[in-house]
Amino acid sequence: MSEPVAHDSTDSSAGKRSRTASTHIETIIAARLSRRSALLGMAATAGAGMFGGRLFFDGAARAAAPALTFGELPRVYDDKDHVAPGYSKQVLLRWGDPITADAPGFEPAAMTGASQAKQFGYNCDFVGYIPLPVGSNSSDHGLLCVNHEYTNAHVMFPGMTEDDAAGKLDKNQAEVTMEAHGHSVVEIKKIDGKWQVVQDSSYNRRVTASTAIKLSGPAAGHELLKTSADPTGTEVLGTLDNCSGGTTPWGTVLFCEEGAADWFGGDATKVPNPALFERAGYGEVGDAYGWARYQDRFNVDKEPNEPNRFDWVVELDPYEPGSQPVKRTALGRFGHEAATTVINKDGRAVVYMGDDDYFEYAYKFVSRGIVDTADRAKNANLLDDGTLYVGRFNDDGTLDWLPLVFGQGPLTPENGFNNQGDVVMQPRKAGDLLGATPMDRPEDFEANPVTGRVYLVMTKNSKREADKLNLANNRAKNITGHMLELLPPGEGKEADHAAEQFKWDTFILAGDPAAAEHGAKYGGQVSANGWFACPDNIAFDPQGRLWIATDGAPAFGIADGLYGTEVEGPDRAVPKLLYAAPMDAEVCGPCFTPDGQTLFLAIQHPAENSETLEKATTLWPDFDSKLPPRPSVVVITKEGGGEIGV
Ligand code: FEO
Ligand code: CA
Ligand code: CA
Repeated sequence: MSEPVAHDSTDSSAGKRSRTASTHIETIIAARLSRRSALLGMAATAGAGMFGGRLFFDGAARAAAPALTFGELPRVYDDKDHVAPGYSKQVLLRWGDPITADAPGFEPAAMTGASQAKQFGYNCDFVGYIPLPVGSNSSDHGLLCVNHEYTNAHVMFPGMTEDDAAGKLDKNQAEVTMEAHGHSVVEIKKIDGKWQVVQDSSYNRRVTASTAIKLSGPAAGHELLKTSADPTGTEVLGTLDNCSGGTTPWGTVLFCEEGAADWFGGDATKVPNPALFERAGYGEVGDAYGWARYQDRFNVDKEPNEPNRFDWVVELDPYEPGSQPVKRTALGRFGHEAATTVINKDGRAVVYMGDDDYFEYAYKFVSRGIVDTADRAKNANLLDDGTLYVGRFNDDGTLDWLPLVFGQGPLTPENGFNNQGDVVMQPRKAGDLLGATPMDRPEDFEANPVTGRVYLVMTKNSKREADKLNLANNRAKNITGHMLELLPPGEGKEADHAAEQFKWDTFILAGDPAAAEHGAKYGGQVSANGWFACPDNIAFDPQGRLWIATDGAPAFGIADGLYGTEVEGPDRAVPKLLYAAPMDAEVCGPCFTPDGQTLFLAIQHPAENSETLEKATTLWPDFDSKLPPRPSVVVITKEGGGEIGV
């Protein structure tokens, strides 16, 4: 998404509807940046892995990754997208493309909820690639698993502005938007160097705002999850605000629910538990999508527990076409952005998760059981049982992972916690009590498959005041965002992701180095094309080089884009521009095939800042006056083949 809770005045992008000093610090940061440069060039390991290179740390010793030598894309920001010289781009999946065998073609004026439920959804975000056949490492045949975060009715349908769309959507249009949310699974194949959708595949499916989804884990059946339609509190209709996510080493996909307050209407001050609503980000609900007019479950006056059934991590097995998605409550309820799963050196699964809201926290989950790499079915409920932790970034460069366990520390009945279900329902409140570090909107959170180090992205936080700084969030009015590097004990496959103490460091303070007020810091001389602002999603290529997508850079006069950087050596933390998005669009979901030769990007909300569809700022990607702008997945390859970036 572009902007949560309450408009950020520094961000010119409209985004999802309204949700609701440092001299000493600079010295320490400078010392730390310099200390980091001394730690470069460490030995590394890599592995191809059982599922698209996602089984981390299982390979033999290897040399440092080849340098990123691609010729940078010169700055450009117009109604088209652009890629660096020597690379090609192909639009693979557009909003409305038929994906099930019986789906109709895209006819924007004739759409219904039923047709949209068989077609590719809107505002694509997370992209996961899961190889076919099961257990292979194929880079030319797989399942593309794509999130659909939200809808922009004012550039989907004629005759409405962003402000009046919620009131103008008729019932059919509202149903189209409901079915345009969620997730798509699409079988794809590379034939003669070109990726194609396999439209009659039995794997192809949609999960939408109306799909029945099971609730599992400590909060399943919780009193606060029971509604008139589901008195057991164990099954919810739909998933919303599916932002980033992750694939697991056992071949499932995790899609995150980032915070659904915008989707609900009614009066949040009249609910029986306003404090719960407030802390979860539901202090204001504005029916920004108009759904409460058509379904009572979206009206908090009528169904005050329905919002509690959102803001979880959903697990789906795309290899099993009829399988029911599951909301894994053990991973906590908050504004989930990412869910990156690593197999720890002791075999347990560790899931890193950000809570993308102002001053919210970084989390990880450590499973109780170990991952069965021989029998994927044995991992089916692995994420239902384990320990959730919240991060405290100390100014001495250590990071404490504080367990959110009922009965430990302040998580007791005196503070309103009567069982683990209560804890996972309110991890933000638990984190407050434990003294977790309030961050500048934590977005993506990824482990480097080669070095074992972990990277956390803070997109920006203009509300950070000078008297509320901490070393891990060290700029007041942070309008450009930053990235941290976390060091678990051990290196490569010996990294202990389950440890309760890490070290942390600053990786990049984003912004324009030529603008002193940004206070930007990179690892070396960054070009006029290579600096960025507002990092959001990140991905590692198979060699462990880092790729950074941005959301909000147009506020600084540049397109949102995708940048590559090395994480070791002289060009560590020196980004280079590979791809620039079209007007008003954000770049999401960078995802590589296991061979590093194909890069998938989700281009979200093109033309979002247009007043109306009739005045769209771009008609990307079709540029056909009869067709609206369409959020789409783009495939980047190197001309003539080969690894991206070198
Ligand atoms: Fe949906 Fe946090 O970006
Ligand atoms: Ca974002
Ligand atoms: Ca995002």
